[in-house]
Amino acid sequence: MRGMPSPADMYESMFVPAIFRPLSRHVLALAAPKKGERVLDLACGTGIVARQVAPLVGAEGRVVALDLRPGMLAAASKLTVPYGAAIEWVEGDATRLDLAPGSFDLVVCQQGMQFFPDRAAAAAGMKRVLASGGRAVIACWRALEHHPLWSALAAAEMRHLAALGADASDATAPFALGDADELRGVLEGAGLRVVEVVERTIEVDFPAGGFVRDQYLAYAAVMPQFVADPAAFDAFVAAIERDSKDAIASFTRDGRVRCPMPTHIATAR
Ligand SMILES: C[S@@+](CC[C@H](N)C(=O)[O-])C[C@H]1O[C@@H](n2cnc3c(N)ncnc32)[C@H](O)[C@@H]1O
Repeated sequence: MRGMPSPADMYESMFVPAIFRPLSRHVLALAAPKKGERVLDLACGTGIVARQVAPLVGAEGRVVALDLRPGMLAAASKLTVPYGAAIEWVEGDATRLDLAPGSFDLVVCQQGMQFFPDRAAAAAGMKRVLASGGRAVIACWRALEHHPLWSALAAAEMRHLAALGADASDATAPFALGDADELRGVLEGAGLRVVEVVERTIEVDFPAGGFVRDQYLAYAAVMPQFVADPAAFDAFVAAIERDSKDAIASFTRDGRVRCPMPTHIATAR
């Protein structure tokens, strides 16, 4: 899309400060990385978890950040290198992990698991790469009905997705593993012992100007089909702006769009 930031750059500049960095504080408070630990950031996106972990494990630790999408890794590699462990960026598929067995003390997967087509294989891979006594911390949003802003947008999206070559499951994928028992079942099915599944809620806060266009452009970092046809994308954005004007207005005050986003965070061993 000429003249526009890439979806991954938009993801980093819009979604990471408003959503994924605040969320990573909760995730890492539960994961409690220690000096010298070896950490895998699975489905790392632009690497917010990896960059927060690197100073915590220090230069004597190890951080591997893996993602399926080269665009995410390209955006990640342009960012400032944090103090601490060097980050190894790896292009790969979480459902077919090609990493040495027992080579990590901690696997963190922040809002990735719900996108994996074979979650059982991903959970088995996590267990395989964990060292004895290692832990996995997995965050997945609660189901769509617990996200009032995104529920309102989804209602409008359903009428216009077909023109993008997308369907309902592409739009609602972030909320597709929102049941705590289902998440627990996926992990236990792989032989991991789930210690706890807790709920945390962040309050996200975006500038209202350009909110609809920018958030779908950022989402295209995860679902590239949203921007495959730039003219169809423009028409989609215009339709959603028109159809969800009142709904978005109900979340807007002082030029900011704000809403709560609750997530489950599972800790397993
Ligand atoms: C919502 S983003 C979360 C990224 C990052 N963990 C964060 O907190 O910002 C979901 C990520 O999952 C990645 N992903 C989806 N399927 C994947 C797979 N099979 N293997 C590895 N990464 C995958 C996407 O490319 C995307 O970067």
